[in-house]
Amino acid sequence: MKIKLFLFLLPLVMLACGNRQPELCSPDGELVLSFRLTTDGAPEYSVRRGSDTVLLWSPLGLHTEDTDLSTGFMLKGIKKGSQDEVWETVWGEERFIRDHHNSMVVKLQHQSGRQMQIAFRCFNDGVALRYEFPEAGDHMTITDEKTAYCFAKNHNVWSIPWRTEYYEGLWSKHPMWSLADTVCSPITIEMEDGGYAFVHEAALYDYPAQNLYVKDNMLCTYLTPWLDANVQTLAARAYKEGSWSSPWRMVVLTKTLPELVASRIMLNLNEPCAIEDTDWIRPMKFIGIWWGMHIKTMTWEMGPNHGATTENMEKYLRFAKEHGIEGVLAEGWNKGWEDWRHFSFTESYPDWDMDYLSRLADSLGVEIVGHNETGGNAADYETVLEEAYQYHAAHGINAIKTGYVAPIIRTLDGLQWNKGQSGVRHYRKVIETAAKYQISIDNHEPVMPTGWQRTYPNLMTQEGVRGQEWNAWSRDGGSPCEHVTVLPYTRILAGPVDYTPGVFHFENPVIPTTRVHSTLMNQLGLFVCFYSPLQMVCDLPEHYMEHPDAFRFVEAVPCDWERSILLDGKIGDYCIYARQERGGETWYIGGITDEEARSTELVLDMLEEGATYTMTLWCDAEDADWHARPYAYDIKEYSVKKGDKVAVKMAAGGGLAAQIKKNN
Ligand code: NOJ
Repeated sequence: MKIKLFLFLLPLVMLACGNRQPELCSPDGELVLSFRLTTDGAPEYSVRRGSDTVLLWSPLGLHTEDTDLSTGFMLKGIKKGSQDEVWETVWGEERFIRDHHNSMVVKLQHQSGRQMQIAFRCFNDGVALRYEFPEAGDHMTITDEKTAYCFAKNHNVWSIPWRTEYYEGLWSKHPMWSLADTVCSPITIEMEDGGYAFVHEAALYDYPAQNLYVKDNMLCTYLTPWLDANVQTLAARAYKEGSWSSPWRMVVLTKTLPELVASRIMLNLNEPCAIEDTDWIRPMKFIGIWWGMHIKTMTWEMGPNHGATTENMEKYLRFAKEHGIEGVLAEGWNKGWEDWRHFSFTESYPDWDMDYLSRLADSLGVEIVGHNETGGNAADYETVLEEAYQYHAAHGINAIKTGYVAPIIRTLDGLQWNKGQSGVRHYRKVIETAAKYQISIDNHEPVMPTGWQRTYPNLMTQEGVRGQEWNAWSRDGGSPCEHVTVLPYTRILAGPVDYTPGVFHFENPVIPTTRVHSTLMNQLGLFVCFYSPLQMVCDLPEHYMEHPDAFRFVEAVPCDWERSILLDGKIGDYCIYARQERGGETWYIGGITDEEARSTELVLDMLEEGATYTMTLWCDAEDADWHARPYAYDIKEYSVKKGDKVAVKMAAGGGLAAQIKKNN
């Protein structure tokens, strides 16, 4: 269902602009974007909030193989519009999203004869722009994009270097103007005046992912290049034909952190849902034959410790049923794990009986989550995609985790960056084909998300993060406590994350010096702080049974929300989220902190006026500490109502979780 408040487009306004600079205001009038052509006909834009300049005049345009489309333009006209619409998400951090913006399309005529438009949108919480080539033109090879962001001040930026394999890095903070390396999109900016910015792209289709670098104090775009047969960088970034539009370039600008995480600009810049019947797209939690392989007590390939056996899967399916967990993932069920050279997506190892297991899963009402690791051979996968999805659908499999372990993947165009144009095309093909078979995707080693889930809600979650598995085998000892307190404000702003929370047993049998840097309560807090509509409950069933009263929270916590509110937080320090279950009245709170213990208050302003609630709080015990006493926790009960303030304490590396149920 789609609720439209009102939607209108102003009639085409063709302005004879003369020297006037066209301007576009946000609906609340706070943000103003200005456009100009320099005397050389170079397009530029700037942004101010009130009387403060946020972005100084910043260049725009593209380069093709033979034409410089960043200068030599004449203004042909301007079309302004406006939109105010509320749409309903299939799943998400909130059920209803308001798309309220003003728009301006600047029509330009290049001296070469080519027409180009720049579309701008101005929301209350940020601005966006894209290049449009409305006329079916001849072939274009894009070699560079000139879009830049000239921030007026040298703010601090959270980022990871652009060549971070699979985006699995630790984010770090640096003054923008001394960023030494090219970095991945997105970046999160802590502004000098206390505000925040988030620079990313939206609706990345058939184009390379953007990266960012600083030159002359200007944040510039570096498009991921094509590679030649010798894996050398080509000048070409994108091959385009006919009429086309670039992805949106977007800068979210807010005064506070809760507003930053609540921004939905990226989703609003994506097209509405392309799938008519979405009933089959179901958020769920799932356990899996997975962590055992990462802590090396099980293997993917067949052998004495093979994880994905019929017997083991039966145990996991029954455990899931007993604890109300909707799905079970099994990695290593299929042939190919011995050498990772050629994976089959339809042939199982002999100790896995797919027919039996799919019947059992069906009778238990639990779903099998499929697993298709490609080893980075996207080309092979694409060739057998239909066949693979037919096989999974025939066995009642409704969700598949895909994987592309290879820093440079093999696409139909040879070895390429996964975030280059060819890789981006492959992932779209996967999502569209999966939709035909009513299959949802959990994409590992992805391209950074850009909001596709609005159009294709069967793309439910993605990795693109240094996830929990690093705490099993990383030789650096595991991710520092701070890591999880950076992600909600950086990576996760780009979209749902398959981080795989929920380790309940911290002793590491493989590398004793590597471990999860958290208390058990921090692991509970992640289920609320890290949003994913396919949420893995990652540890072994026997580990959950070591702390059944803490596991009660994991059993109860949903992964699809009516509303989400960041109660409190600071990038790299802590995060406390409150989320209301979708279609219900129960609230859940999750809190996580870094290596600093923290005392704070949960301010329960979001509860309904006049109602009373019972709050169950899972919290670190007085003497808890991620290193010395990670399992020390208390469970407390409170009677609460709107406006109450509950004092809480999180231990070093600790956290908390709460369920707040309305009394009848
Ligand atoms: C890397 C993925 O992140 C992990 O979850 C998976 O188990 C392995 N690849 C094998 O596919």
